[in-house]
Amino acid sequence: MAASIKDVAERAGVSVGTVSNVLNRPQKVSPETARKVHDAINSLGFIRNDAARQLREGRSRSIGLIVLDVANPFFTDLARGAEDRAAEHDLTVLLGNSDKSDTREAAYLEHFLEQRVQGVLLSPRGEISDRIDLMHDRGTAVVLVDRDGTGHGVSSVSVDDVVGGYLAVNHLAEIGRKRIAFVGGPSSFRQVSDRFAGAHNAAVEHPGISLEKIETESLTVSAGRSAGDAISARLPDARPDAIFAANDLLAIGLVQSFVKLGDVRVPEDIAIVGYDDIAFAEAAIVPLSSIRQPSELIGATAVDLLLKDAAHDPKFIPQHVVFQPELVVRDSSVPRSEGE
Ligand code: RIB
Repeated sequence: MAASIKDVAERAGVSVGTVSNVLNRPQKVSPETARKVHDAINSLGFIRNDAARQLREGRSRSIGLIVLDVANPFFTDLARGAEDRAAEHDLTVLLGNSDKSDTREAAYLEHFLEQRVQGVLLSPRGEISDRIDLMHDRGTAVVLVDRDGTGHGVSSVSVDDVVGGYLAVNHLAEIGRKRIAFVGGPSSFRQVSDRFAGAHNAAVEHPGISLEKIETESLTVSAGRSAGDAISARLPDARPDAIFAANDLLAIGLVQSFVKLGDVRVPEDIAIVGYDDIAFAEAAIVPLSSIRQPSELIGATAVDLLLKDAAHDPKFIPQHVVFQPELVVRDSSVPRSEGE
């Protein structure tokens, strides 16, 4: 039979209340007593009954995180930042992948509500649905990540993607590229439309620059490869001499296509800038220039805002933290000899 909290107390020679303090309010217990209790827990193989504590406290010791695409390292970096900050508060993170599906996003929101999580961090797929307001009305804290939630009754943490798009195309213009293509999609994604808007703002500042939009079905490596194949199939004069890719996965796919087909040199024929600065950007076969997002800091900051909201302080006012992106220049836009 599974060991009970009473068995642990007897084994450690303390009261049941002391065992509860060691588990829930360790600051109230001496290190010596805590050690005796943990030794008893380990020797008996005791597993705490979270359901009882949840009933008493009304909430689990977890935070729900719903990301758009768990295959994208940007989101796993964001999750790492959220997890590390949550652990500082003895909380765990339950990760859900909406996979850009409204249905899956709704299913995870419902599941996290049933689990009585402390709150939910959400990278919204589309427009911010009334589901968010419903959750907030039902007392579950929500923070939007990777989306500016200004105007909604919840906090948000994001990066200024319009500035990010501007930095990318301004850099390509400044290294002398004239026929610039924006590769990304679907345009219904706010991240894509904001980055293109910034790209356009930079293009109009540089006379003689053309900006072509090559829409993709997704923001993945395979979509980047397909776009690269299509560009390579053009006559050389019809190709862009620079590409701003809406994220690093697209940029990696573009480089893969150009290297495989061998007809386009990067950056000599086509300079490339990506977005996110995931670890694979620097490790790519042609190290990628990219627009860096502070992914882990976004996750950690979102947890901080969530815990403020979850405290249900009547004076709580939603906050909208917007970080500034940063241009990171590597070989895919400036050859190492030039860059050294
Ligand atoms: O989810 C698609 C993109 O939006 C990611 O690559 C990251 O840039 C996010 O902001």
